[in-house]
Formats: sequence, C-alpha cells, structure tokens
Amino acid sequence: MVTTDYHEPVLLAETLGQLDLKSGSVIIDGTLGGGGHAEAILDHTGPDGILIGLDLDSDAIREAATRLRGYGERVRLFQSSFRRIDDIAAEIAPTSIDGIVLDLGVSSHQLDAPERGFRFGTTGDPGSVASESPLDMRMDGLGDRPPASSLLATWSAEKLEKIFSKYGQLPGSRRLANGIIDRRKSEPLETAADLVHLIRELGIGRGRKHNPATLVFQALRIAVNDELGALEEGLQAAIRVLRPGGRLAVIAYHSLEDRLVKQTFRAAAKGCTCPPEWPACACGIEPTLKLLTRRPIVPDGGEIEKNPRARSARLRAAARLEAA
Ligand SMILES: C[S@@+](CC[C@H](N)C(=O)[O-])C[C@H]1O[C@@H](n2cnc3c(N)ncnc32)[C@H](O)[C@@H]1O
Repeated sequence: MVTTDYHEPVLLAETLGQLDLKSGSVIIDGTLGGGGHAEAILDHTGPDGILIGLDLDSDAIREAATRLRGYGERVRLFQSSFRRIDDIAAEIAPTSIDGIVLDLGVSSHQLDAPERGFRFGTTGDPGSVASESPLDMRMDGLGDRPPASSLLATWSAEKLEKIFSKYGQLPGSRRLANGIIDRRKSEPLETAADLVHLIRELGIGRGRKHNPATLVFQALRIAVNDELGALEEGLQAAIRVLRPGGRLAVIAYHSLEDRLVKQTFRAAAKGCTCPPEWPACACGIEPTLKLLTRRPIVPDGGEIEKNPRARSARLRAAARLEAA
C-alpha cells in the first residue's frame, strides 16, 4: 500500500473484514478522501473487482485518482455527495453492488489545509495561535452552500443557539449566539481568529479541560455541510442499492453521527413500525438489514497511539437482506 500525508485510513483491517470482499466484488467508497480504504479494497478484490469512488471534495478526487492510477479501468471516480449513491450505482452497475463503505467527517488534508477554514488554530495543537484563515468549512468548496462566515453573518440568535447546542453540545450556546449577533453589528466574523477571540472574550467554556472552540467549529461544520441530512439520505440510498447479502460499513466520529447510524440500522433490521401493543402487523414493512455489529467496533490502543485522530471512530456494519 502507498502511504501519503493526505489521510491515514482508520479501522482499515476491521472495515475490510466487515465488507467480506471477494475477487470481482463491486464496491462503492462513498467518502474517498485520500483513497486509503479504496486502495486496500482494490487489493482485496483483484483482478477484476470494481471500485466506485465518491467524494464532495475535488482535492480528494484528484488525490485518489493519482493514488489509484495503477488499477486502470477498475476505478470509477465521481465528485458527488453520497446522498446520490443510488443514482451513481444505477449508471454503473444497476444490480450488483456488493458493498458500500462510508468513512464520515473530514479528512486530515481538509483539517490541515488553512484555506479550508476547518481549523481554529495555526497548527493542529488546540492551544496554538488562532488562525487567520477564512471561515469557509464547505467540503465541496463549490459554493452552492453558503460558507460558515455567511451563517454567522445572517442567521438569527435562535438558529445559531440551536446548532451550537444540538451539534456541539456547547455549554453557553445562547451566550455565544447573542455575542455573535452583537459583534456583527460592528464588525463581521470572517476568520477563524475572529470567532476564537469572541469565544475567549465571552468566557465560553472557561475552565473546561477541552478547548470550547472544538465544539463550536464542529457544530458549524455540521451545519454548513448539512452532514446529518446527507447521512440520513445516504444511508437510505445505500440500503436501496445493495444486492441481497451485500455489506454496508459506516465509520462515525461523533455521537450524533453514530446515533443516526445505529438507529437507521436498527429500524431497517426491525422493519415493522406498528406499535408493539398491536396484535398483528398492519404496516407490512419488511426488515431490509441484518445487523453484523451489535456494538460498534473501536480502534485499539496501538492504532490510537499511531493516529490520534482515530480516537473517536466507531464502525458499524450490516448486511442487506433478500427483498420479501
Ligand atoms: C474521513 S475522510 C475519508 C478518508 C478515506 N476513507 C481514506 O482512507 O483516505 C472523509 C471524506 O468524506 C468526504 N465527505 C464528507 N461528506 C461527504 C458526502 N456527503 N458525500 C461525499 N463525500 C463526503 C470528505 O470530503 C472527506 O474527503
């Protein structure tokens, strides 16, 4: 395997194990990033397996195209959201998707590139000087969604408070939301440093072990990219396109994502949505998934030591059931 600085793949062996790869398998990687998972999948499905790779980010598509060049026709890459996984699958291989992997969140490249505006410090160290990079945070950088700075400039206090408390579970969400509204009357919040200084001035999260800017930046990133909406749609689309027996493996990095994956898998494994006290099922909804992981698989100490960004990873997997 080629190693690059772009992104270190997380829970790699565990994910490959859950996908049950065979020679000739057709696999979708919905979050290509640096192509680490994709490359290992190609190695385990040779000589004729197909890898369909998606990413919102043109940097990721470029990086993965270079890294996977040697696999030739076996690789098909698309700059697209995994929300569209079913449309893209239909174009390539209407009935034979054997596995799908979603490795959620941002890549190390996105976090580390100052111009993308995901990072609040000048280095990865949370105590470092606040970064002067623009508050953008769009994964696709395409501009069809507004950047984080525009949310801060236009959203109401109620809307801002809601995202800080829901997506960041930030103590002091209302104070920060009101502080943003006050500050923008006199000067816009355009850079990571503008926001970090305001968080400090307001004393948000003072005395806490972790830097509160982590929670604020996470909340903004989730809102800017509608990450939970994309995940909800992407999971349903993935379930629709898998062949019976096909595998779905999802790696989540925070509790909101992991909860959504867990609940979606459980609901699909249960099928029927009738109240439990009803004597018989009236909805007729059949189960579509079999759970393969009752509890999430997490990285071991060795992986976390080598790659601290793996710390919060949670892998869940399921297999598509035969349609009734
Ligand atoms: C953690 S990285 C994936 C790393 C990859 N597995 C590897 O081995 O290098 C997550 C990637 O998902 C992409 N991404 C996030 N949301 C997406 C979406 N809705 N659709 C497609 N790609 C998305 C990001 O742009 C990022 O490149």
